Amino acid sequence: MAAARRVLRWALAATAALAAALALDNGLARTPPMGWLHWERFLCGTDCAADPRRCVSERLFVEMADVMVAEGWRDAGYEFVCIDDCWMAPTRDERGRLQADPKRFPSGIRRLADYVHSRGLKLGIYSDVGNKTCAGFPGSYNHYDLDAQTFASWGVDLLKFDGCNSGTLELLAEGYRRMSLALNKTGRSIVYSCEWPFYLRPLQQPNYTEIKQYCNHWRNFFDVYDSWSSIKSILDWTALHQDSIVKIAGPGGWNDPDMLVIGNFGLSWDQAVTQMAMWAIMAAPLFMSNDLRRISPEAKWLLQNKETIAINQDPLGKQGYQITKDKNFELWERPLAGQAYAVAVLNQQEIGGPQNFTFPLTFLGNGLACNPACSVRQILPASRDWGVYSWVSSLSVEAFTTRSASTGTLNLQPNVTNTHHSITKR
Ligand SMILES: *[C@@H]1O[C@H](CO)[C@@H](O)[C@H](O)[C@H]1NC(C)=O
Ligand SMILES: *[C@@H]1O[C@H](CO)[C@@H](O)[C@H](O)[C@H]1NC(C)=O
Ligand SMILES: *[C@@H]1O[C@H](CO)[C@@H](O)[C@H](O)[C@H]1NC(C)=O
Ligand SMILES: *[C@@H]1O[C@H](CO)[C@@H](O)[C@H](O)[C@H]1NC(C)=O
Ligand SMILES: *[C@@H]1O[C@H](CO)[C@@H](O)[C@H](O)[C@H]1NC(C)=O
Repeated sequence: MAAARRVLRWALAATAALAAALALDNGLARTPPMGWLHWERFLCGTDCAADPRRCVSERLFVEMADVMVAEGWRDAGYEFVCIDDCWMAPTRDERGRLQADPKRFPSGIRRLADYVHSRGLKLGIYSDVGNKTCAGFPGSYNHYDLDAQTFASWGVDLLKFDGCNSGTLELLAEGYRRMSLALNKTGRSIVYSCEWPFYLRPLQQPNYTEIKQYCNHWRNFFDVYDSWSSIKSILDWTALHQDSIVKIAGPGGWNDPDMLVIGNFGLSWDQAVTQMAMWAIMAAPLFMSNDLRRISPEAKWLLQNKETIAINQDPLGKQGYQITKDKNFELWERPLAGQAYAVAVLNQQEIGGPQNFTFPLTFLGNGLACNPACSVRQILPASRDWGVYSWVSSLSVEAFTTRSASTGTLNLQPNVTNTHHSITKR
């Protein structure tokens, strides 16, 4: 048994080393980045006279930074405050540089970055690979170096680079590569968030080996919306494509299933639990898009759930995957550091009440996750110790339905005393 465990550990270590060698070499995003991004909740509000609290303006980002510090978001790990589309003036300045809309960002981005940094947070900004952004503001085409230098001179820490109006597939790929090199040339550490494979996919299979050499995370699929059908479509897409996308994820480069919409209007409680659990299993970047100034205590509890965040941020950096699907139930697992596993049971049935899904522990980790024994801890929807199980036993997990779907998340640790020898002998 100990021999089998050692082999498993070496295999994992080898995979991790390989992934690290291939990732964008900027030392960033060793675990999935966490923060807040304005798009899903605030879209392209530009009329600050009519809607001062919700327009895309420096006030919005200052208030969000303040609440992130005051309400424990920063301490929970959410460190980036990110601007999406619509921050710009309609034209570049007289020297060809991008500039913020002077009415909505009267102090300028440099001052906003200083403020965000003074709160112990980091600032993210947005641009586009083509001539125009998705909302029609100036894009970075033909200005990659200048825009990277501008962002670096402002003290920006993350760039979300969209792919609207990108012209040909060749220009799309070249633009993503050139902006990555331009960011590197500035000498400033800037996380590079791409949508390259999403814009490529309808026409061409993405080369993820290449994309990971240039990007810290990348979107594969449509924008998330504040609805269960959107979350469900992202999960279904991910399961369908897991053979090509799961293996490439690792420290420095992650698949990005888009923002967390927990705390808004569209998800039931069980659906919100499901998004949080599954984003942890998928090693997803955690960018909330909600109004942290007005959020329910329940949503806050879920988004700040330490054990779930610890799974998302697990240092082994392996993305989880679906291991089996049985009618409406899906069983997912994610290998964690220390030979542990995170497990999620997803109930996609949208009729009736809660149901239990029972499965043998040998389903997990190719039979090795709980071999010869493991301690099981439930994380969501509430945390509870389940005690020690031997590898021949089964688990029965209750997953809620009620016109929704939901997830029970478990954390399986090796029965530590029993396997002490093989864990510590490195
Ligand atoms: C730029 O890339 C080189 C190697 O490709 C790397 O060593 C360096 O840390 C990078 N610099 C930044 C600022 O990302
Ligand atoms: C941007 O516009 C210029 C001038 O019209 C054009 O030559 C170029 O191909 C455009 N770029 C993209 C990516 O569409
Ligand atoms: C994918 O990109 C990598 C790195 O640039 C390259 O070595 C490899 O040949 C490419 N694969 C395909 C199928 O084009
Ligand atoms: C259903 O699962 C829960 C744990 O989630 C467990 O406590 C309960 O005993 C199970 N019920 C049945 C009937 O197996
Ligand atoms: C877990 O480890 C303890 C201590 O070695 C042992 O007494 C117990 O039997 C183990 N449990 C199982 C189910 O193997």
